[in-house]
Amino acid sequence: MNVTVLGRRVDSDSLVEGEYSFTREDFRTIAALIYEQSGIALADTKASLVYSRLAKRLRKLGLPAFSDYCALVASPEGAAERSAMLNSLTTNVTRFYREPHHFVHLRDEVLRPAIPFLKSGGRMRLWSAACSSGQEPYSMALTLLSVLPDAQRFDIKILATDIDSRILDQARDAVYPDDLVAPIPAAQRDRWMHRDPSDRYAWIMGEEVRSLVTFKELNLIGDWPVRGPFDAIFCRNVMIYFDDPTQERICARFAPLLAPDGRLYIGHSERVSAKVSSLVSDGLTVYRREEASRS
Ligand SMILES: C[S@@+](CC[C@H](N)C(=O)[O-])C[C@H]1O[C@@H](n2cnc3c(N)ncnc32)[C@H](O)[C@@H]1O
Repeated sequence: MNVTVLGRRVDSDSLVEGEYSFTREDFRTIAALIYEQSGIALADTKASLVYSRLAKRLRKLGLPAFSDYCALVASPEGAAERSAMLNSLTTNVTRFYREPHHFVHLRDEVLRPAIPFLKSGGRMRLWSAACSSGQEPYSMALTLLSVLPDAQRFDIKILATDIDSRILDQARDAVYPDDLVAPIPAAQRDRWMHRDPSDRYAWIMGEEVRSLVTFKELNLIGDWPVRGPFDAIFCRNVMIYFDDPTQERICARFAPLLAPDGRLYIGHSERVSAKVSSLVSDGLTVYRREEASRS
């Protein structure tokens, strides 16, 4: 319902005060589409966030209200906008060496012990399953290079995937301003990165690092066209956005993709359900695939 307050037209049914009318029904339509597309469960408390991120889309498209936007994204013609909407609503916060103990564990328990096997022609696959702008898979690559500086010569690949096509483009560009590069030890940075010729306050990941990582779009609640087995899967700080059954289903799908003794690394506020019995705790938010015992 539109009322006029101090000469301004205000929609009294709107959940958020602002330029566009945004009703509970609009929020529910958007939340349902996002859940269906990505598994992300948007709580009612996220209404302001949804409004502020999507108001930019309405402005760009010249739409007068969220009801028009909802009609567009719910229609068969709205596929491109549904993907833009998802890209706008994903949370891409990440950092180099985030949760540093995982990289120490990866180095000491997975990478270093595998060196003789790799040098005799063995294969290693690592997966960053919600890689955002690339800091996580590049930290995995830098960790690998810290113990095997000529890693490119061996059969080692890091797969890095995310649902957000726009953030994957940033990850492939691999350009990071000084403040984001700060967690990388200076010696590593100077060896494996170089200054961006067009911005003296930014760094670019060097080719030796980039060549280890392949970026692809992948939806964790969709099909996974990946080839395991993986020696390590990092799936961190994404499952918190999913409901419990979705989290459990994803962990149950990871388990058979891990090599025996392969590790799953999850975010600090995430848990693997005890129902996924082949994954056993191997440290703080680290799980190891245990072979079923033979009877
Ligand atoms: C908060 S970031 C975490 C990045 C990194 N793993 C870390 O811990 O620093 C969450 C990422 O999950 C991605 N994401 C959300 N839903 C997804 C889905 N259904 N499938 C794949 N990636 C998804 C987002 O696009 C975002 O880049």
